[in-house]
Amino acid sequence: MARTSLTRFLIEQQRLANALPAELRLLIETVARACKTISHSVSKGALGEVLGSLDSENVQGEVQKKLDVIANELLLEANEWGGHLAGMASEEMDTLYRIPNRYPKGEYLLLFDPIDGSSNIDVDLSVGTIFSVLRAPEAVSGRDVTEEDFLQSGRHQVAAGYAIYGPQSLLVLTVGTGVHEFTLDREIGSWVLTDSNMVMPQGKCEFAINMSNRRQWSPGIARYIDERVEGAAGPCGRDFNMRWTASMVADVHRILKRGGIFMYPADHRHENKAKLRLMYEANPMSFLIEQAGGAATDGFGPIMDIAPTGLHQRVGVVLGDCAEVAMVTAYGLETSAQQD
Ligand code: AHG
Ligand code: MN
Ligand code: MN
Repeated sequence: MARTSLTRFLIEQQRLANALPAELRLLIETVARACKTISHSVSKGALGEVLGSLDSENVQGEVQKKLDVIANELLLEANEWGGHLAGMASEEMDTLYRIPNRYPKGEYLLLFDPIDGSSNIDVDLSVGTIFSVLRAPEAVSGRDVTEEDFLQSGRHQVAAGYAIYGPQSLLVLTVGTGVHEFTLDREIGSWVLTDSNMVMPQGKCEFAINMSNRRQWSPGIARYIDERVEGAAGPCGRDFNMRWTASMVADVHRILKRGGIFMYPADHRHENKAKLRLMYEANPMSFLIEQAGGAATDGFGPIMDIAPTGLHQRVGVVLGDCAEVAMVTAYGLETSAQQD
């Protein structure tokens, strides 16, 4: 059977579902092309002199890896000239990126985490790229785009996805019509459809959390995890397994494929201190997980309903299996009500 390339898949989506404007299709193709280049850089490793850290820090005070900066540049260069975008924002840039005046501007906003899982780059574990697409407010035509134009809730996303650079390079995508996976065929240089209308399995007993942070969890999160560690003998009545890759792309991809729950809760001792970023990590992953039949909350309510206040805002993340996410959320609400 003829294989379906990303290009063909997107054109068919445009025709069948009528959910995909041509401009957005071309934008997604450009992002996918940049991810292909990033995949090549990642796989060269020491031979491409892409490993290791730089002296610089990003706006979040994190030391930048060479690949963080290389991937950020690749995404900017690939996307700035196509005429589809009004602006871009990235984990690796303090503020938004305006499309240079020499290029035409378009109606979309692109947000990305160029390399997710940076701590894994130098030890040859999976890393990835996460992206989110919003429509620019109509009012931006004829003026410069501002940070406020990006501050739209996740429900406004028109596309989201991630590339994962692992044993295989994959691109997982939604335009609001289900979740679809493409594998990079390195010989022909094309993204090929390998799984479509993905539905995440429910009822699986696997959780992903960095257990070393237990001291900073809220009582609700600690109760939920302690019960799972207790296993069949405890109140949840089932034995659970644990996996933690420290690359959100890899952990979320596993959950999409074989079920379970991913958690990076906020530190309850420090108000609003969380690790993952709302606009280019939590929102796109929540869109994908909801499209695959799962759920995503910040521990209290749906992530995609949060009204953003900043480009680099951080948020607690609990996503995956619907019943498990509901239980974490119920424990969280119960304990916060007791504290009031
Ligand atoms: P990034 O590399 O883009 O900064 O993101 C890293 C994130 C995420 O991928 C992962 O889930 C988490 O940080 C891992 O954090 P810990 O090292 O605290 O486990
Ligand atoms: Mn990240
Ligand atoms: Mn990153």
